[in-house]
Amino acid sequence: MSPLIAPSLLSANFANLHDDILMVNQSEADWFHLDVMDGVFVPNITFGFPVIKAIKKLATKPLDIHLMIVQPERYIKQFKEAGADILSVHYEASTHLHRTIQAMKAEGLKAGVVLNPHTGIQVLEEVIADLDLVLLMSVNPGFGGQQFIEQTYSKIIRLKQLILDSGSHALIEVDGGVTTENAPKLVAAGADVLVAGNTVFKSKNPSLTIHLLKQ
Ligand code: DX5
Ligand code: ZN
Repeated sequence: MSPLIAPSLLSANFANLHDDILMVNQSEADWFHLDVMDGVFVPNITFGFPVIKAIKKLATKPLDIHLMIVQPERYIKQFKEAGADILSVHYEASTHLHRTIQAMKAEGLKAGVVLNPHTGIQVLEEVIADLDLVLLMSVNPGFGGQQFIEQTYSKIIRLKQLILDSGSHALIEVDGGVTTENAPKLVAAGADVLVAGNTVFKSKNPSLTIHLLKQ
């Protein structure tokens, strides 16, 4: 089965996002992946509501927003209003995760939880049935263009089993170091959605690369 592809705009040309957004619109990509970083949860700062609203005006595909911020529960409504369709918060950043998930769903958002590479999937046992998405970090969050962490394959397999056992309909998304080389192995392990930043935007032909990732 071919995966959903979510190009990460973190690696796009911020001086000309317009052209990169149109490229994604016209490509075989399925979602836009937007990385929001606060300089506290991760050692980097990216963008916030004004930029997301501007992207929303041009994008013809769902916005998949990955929050790398502390206390993400404080901003759920604003992200919905800015244009989020799918919103994911880090397990490591939200103390009352169950409440945060319910709040996302109450806003009509698809609700996702993100796990850092060091966080085991067992922490999701009590909430997995409520989730639309689990995002597995295959690099430590904060930057594009990092090396893929190989343990991710077995983590996907174990997460898939947890999803099946619990009757959850959650999709498995993988983020960080995804390439046209490792994509088939990720899909074989059980990944449903692949995020790709550098692989797409630093390639000579980004829409062809999206096509190849989808194979
Ligand atoms: C990293 C971000 C990723 C990043 C992936 O913290 O969550 O979405 O853009 O970039 P690549 O695909 O280049 O590893
Ligand atoms: Zn991301």
